[in-house]
Amino acid sequence: MDFVDQLKSSIDIVKVIGEYVRLKRSGSGGRWIGLCPFHQEKTPSFSVNQTRQFFKCFGCGKGGDALSFVMEIDGLTFPEALKLLAERNGIPMPRRAEYSDEESKLRAALYEIHAIAASFYQANLRDARGAEARAYLARRGVGAEMIETFALGYADASGQSLARRLAQERFTPREIEASGLIRRREDGSAYDFFRGRLMFPIHNDAGKVIAFGGRALRDEDQPKYLNSSETPIYRKSSVLYNAHRAREGMRRSARAVLVEGYMDAIGVYSAGVKEVVAPCGTAFTDAQVRWIRRHADAVLMSFDPDPAGARATEQRAQMLLDEGLHVRVVTLEGGLDPDEYIRKHGAESYRKKLEEAGGYFHWLADRVRARFDMRTAEGRMDAFKFLLPAVNRISGRLERAAVASDLAEYLGVEPGLVLDQFKKAAAERRAPAAAPAAPAIPALERILLSALLASDQARRQMLPRLTGEITQNFASREIFEALRHAENTTYSALEGRLGPAARDLLHFLLAADEKMEEEAALEQAEACLRRLEADRRKQRTAELRARVKQAEREGRMEEALGMIAELEKIQKHGGTGGCQ
Ligand code: UTP
Ligand code: MN
Repeated sequence: MDFVDQLKSSIDIVKVIGEYVRLKRSGSGGRWIGLCPFHQEKTPSFSVNQTRQFFKCFGCGKGGDALSFVMEIDGLTFPEALKLLAERNGIPMPRRAEYSDEESKLRAALYEIHAIAASFYQANLRDARGAEARAYLARRGVGAEMIETFALGYADASGQSLARRLAQERFTPREIEASGLIRRREDGSAYDFFRGRLMFPIHNDAGKVIAFGGRALRDEDQPKYLNSSETPIYRKSSVLYNAHRAREGMRRSARAVLVEGYMDAIGVYSAGVKEVVAPCGTAFTDAQVRWIRRHADAVLMSFDPDPAGARATEQRAQMLLDEGLHVRVVTLEGGLDPDEYIRKHGAESYRKKLEEAGGYFHWLADRVRARFDMRTAEGRMDAFKFLLPAVNRISGRLERAAVASDLAEYLGVEPGLVLDQFKKAAAERRAPAAAPAAPAIPALERILLSALLASDQARRQMLPRLTGEITQNFASREIFEALRHAENTTYSALEGRLGPAARDLLHFLLAADEKMEEEAALEQAEACLRRLEADRRKQRTAELRARVKQAEREGRMEEALGMIAELEKIQKHGGTGGCQ
């Protein structure tokens, strides 16, 4: 029997796939089902046949055996998949050339380089060079146990030592350079990418180090965190910090705690909440959401309690909801982030905050209360209507209705009215789908609109100057038109004048930006208008120039001269405007 057959006969596909997907037994006969990891779905169509040792998704059509599964999901070559499964099952892997191609060899070297670097940094932290970093950790309340668990380390400031350490091994220059941990100057000399930083190793699902985040120890060292760049073993968009330690706890509790960064993850973990993950200094992605969905049903979001944290919560919550996850939001008073909160109030108190965390929609409702007059029935209804589009993105009909009625009660809206709104929304749902949320709207338009919504004075003074010629190409044209004609800027006065797409846009605008200060609004609007006018001048100048050229080429000299005169007039008239 050759090695591949031997491996296949000694592993169980349910155990292999079970590491990635939560599988449930379905009837007898060795059939298991779960949510497909290869496409988006909310009811399971992914099936694993234990008797015959294969998997099949009836949604997207993917199928195969245990080896093709790990190749597909981890993006591995065939030899790498063999190696992974052999390692996980304690089966020795023959060192034969046929099990190794160039790509696999490079990646194997990169894993090794990262493992060596991680122990090297760890050793640094323990010896004399690590004194400052140890003191820093002590100051921040990170004890020996967490230092060990998170394999924290220190990259010394010399800028040479890792390069020298790796030179002792048999890696090729190409492999060392591909790791990103060592860079090369123009003169060919090598230097360490991370210098004088506290090191946070980032692991893949299998627990191998694939990248690092490095924190500066002093405020004057910028940036605060330096992160590994992408390599053949590190795809930022699909990795979460602490994922491999969190996974088991996530499965047991069916929930994940999502925090902002490395220190928060360590703090929360140290409070006994192991199911905590964080992005690694990058945008939050669908791939990360899907990874969470494979291991949990609910997410507790625990971000910084500042406007940026609130915006991040809202945007990420939407991504989590779209993938069918339940979302709750943890609120910590005192302006503290989770790490600081735990240090100040203790693990117990934080865990209590987790248990008390309210549903996402209550949090959202609390956030918009200030925009509406909650003392009147109309104001409460407006608030409810304002939140409805987010509710309507929940895909299950029953759950959607439950959330809506719960929200109505929370806001103090009469249940009968809710039903009407809901029927209306249902009718709109059946109509062709509106554009997805978060439309791309240029910053100038956004600021201008926020200003006009914030201040009556700005609205009165600016609207006449915002001619149709300026607004005609605006993504938010409809909202400007509505503003011209509505008596006031209440949500309900505007909403009725907008089609579904523009209404979405208005929601997005109102929800995305913090309310602009009324005092600043006029000035901001003026600045925007100056910019828009300058842009328009530039555009007209460019057009005219092109037409002059064309006319010259075709010998229409008189016409060309006329346009040149016009060009001069534009340039004399306004330059490029005052606000750049
Ligand atoms: P924070 O600035 O909130 O830092 O950034 P933190 O995690 O609370 O760390 P401390 O407590 O100040 O030490 C959150 C996350 O954003 C990424 C990191 O992943 C960080 O953990 N980040 C932040 C960067 O990648 N680069 C930066 O310069 C700053
Ligand atoms: Mn912090």
